[in-house]
Amino acid sequence: MTRVTPFKDSSAGKKQQVEQMFDQISARYDFMNHFLSLGIDKIWRKKAIALAASVKPGRLLDVATGTGDFAIQALETGAKEIIGVDISEGMLKVGEEKVKRYEGKIKLMRGDSENLQFADNSFDAIIVAFGVRNFENLQKGLTEMYRVLRPSGILVVLEFSKPRVFPVKQFYRFYFRYIVPLCGRWLANHQTAYTYLPDSVQEFPEGEAFLTELSQAGYITTTCKPLSFGISSIYSGKK
Ligand SMILES: C[S@@+](CC[C@H](N)C(=O)[O-])C[C@H]1O[C@@H](n2cnc3c(N)ncnc32)[C@H](O)[C@@H]1O
Repeated sequence: MTRVTPFKDSSAGKKQQVEQMFDQISARYDFMNHFLSLGIDKIWRKKAIALAASVKPGRLLDVATGTGDFAIQALETGAKEIIGVDISEGMLKVGEEKVKRYEGKIKLMRGDSENLQFADNSFDAIIVAFGVRNFENLQKGLTEMYRVLRPSGILVVLEFSKPRVFPVKQFYRFYFRYIVPLCGRWLANHQTAYTYLPDSVQEFPEGEAFLTELSQAGYITTTCKPLSFGISSIYSGKK
């Protein structure tokens, strides 16, 4: 696997670069997210949350929570306690403002998916939206999440994948290669973040390859559901 990082000229590790990049785009992140996905991400998120709700979680962890949208949507699972962790203080700061209105039900804190600060078997469900692609060490992140998940608990991962059918494949490739980086430079005022996005999707082990990663980390009864002709996929695994 080639190593795709946000800043090609930087000698810093991927984790540090990812943290720096999300700190830099945090103020524009929510707008860019919904603008570039034309709002379709909201439908994908809802489907992923419905899957997490299947175990009726009491305590739920949102890894790579960013500005907290997925954690907020996770209220739909009925969970009594939702914790969101992220390595980017900038993203968390935006999220803190949003979760204030949920009366302490959602807590956001700084945390690294590859070294989680929680006890073994302490969550009924763990969710990650558009996060795993950014991990420096994917296996380490998946194994750490497995450790803090309780037996029979569920991990639900929402991530971009690559559509394979004509003409979606061709349109998507053009949109991701040319339109997304251009919008990123104009609207988010960032030179590389929205070039890193398609590059990291290109490199990411999707579909069967990701299910293999899940199995290697210990998850069982793994599933993969492509959405919107495969533009994104929902993966799940149980402990
Ligand atoms: C594309 S954003 C997704 C944010 C949010 N989950 C959403 O759906 O909008 C990716 C997030 O992953 C976070 N991230 C990347 N590597 C991480 C790690 N090792 N531990 C925790 N968060 C990480 C980044 O800081 C960033 O906020």
